[in-house]
Amino acid sequence: MNEIRKEKIKDAYHDSKSIYDGVLTQGNLFAKAYIQFFWGGTDDVALAHKLLSHIPKVFSGTILDVPCGTAVFTAEKWKELNASKIICLDYSDDMLRQAGRRLEGERHIQLCQGDVGALPFESQSVDIVMSMNGFHAFPDKLKAFDETCRVLKEGGKFIASFYVRGKLRRTDWVVNHVLAPKGWFTPPFQTEEEVRRILEERYSEVEIHTDNAILWCVCGK
Ligand SMILES: C[S@@+](CC[C@H](N)C(=O)[O-])C[C@H]1O[C@@H](n2cnc3c(N)ncnc32)[C@H](O)[C@@H]1O
Repeated sequence: MNEIRKEKIKDAYHDSKSIYDGVLTQGNLFAKAYIQFFWGGTDDVALAHKLLSHIPKVFSGTILDVPCGTAVFTAEKWKELNASKIICLDYSDDMLRQAGRRLEGERHIQLCQGDVGALPFESQSVDIVMSMNGFHAFPDKLKAFDETCRVLKEGGKFIASFYVRGKLRRTDWVVNHVLAPKGWFTPPFQTEEEVRRILEERYSEVEIHTDNAILWCVCGK
């Protein structure tokens, strides 16, 4: 990642960390109206449950959560999976600090500051990569697709959700005029067709769904 983009991402989450969870979980009327108007009412909490349901209830492998953010959607599930090794990686120290508070004392969970474009893990060392709401924030999306695939074992699963352009005009507008200038989202953004091609080049099984402008997928390597 180049230095200017790195600093923009760090600053963006430093400034927004206190409102982040409330907006994503629609914790107040403003957040509800914002999600309804600009995102067609897509419910991130329900979507997170769907993604997490693809991880077995009893699981003893290695899971990489990237970007973990504040762990607002994942903390409860990660705590339950105490026979697994779970690595929560994010670029922002501010977000990691909040995740750390939620996950304190959980010895099977490791927090790690890093860049998804240069993951500090061996190839084929992870069983599941979980990536919620991340790819629209990553500056180099192809590198992120490559790296998350590289660290997965054969037979491993890539489970992700993120914004794709060209689905809802209002969403594209708020992304281009508000979220990208703030540094919360980072262009260029991909369409569903572009993402499908990228995933099909890397995975043997690709299942893609969309909910308004959010694409979510479950892929097998
Ligand atoms: C919208 S948040 C999503 C976090 C969490 N998965 C969730 O659903 O709440 C996006 C996160 O991506 C992180 N991020 C942006 N660029 C990154 C990169 N290159 N490597 C790792 N994390 C990055 C940001 O720090 C931020 O915490």
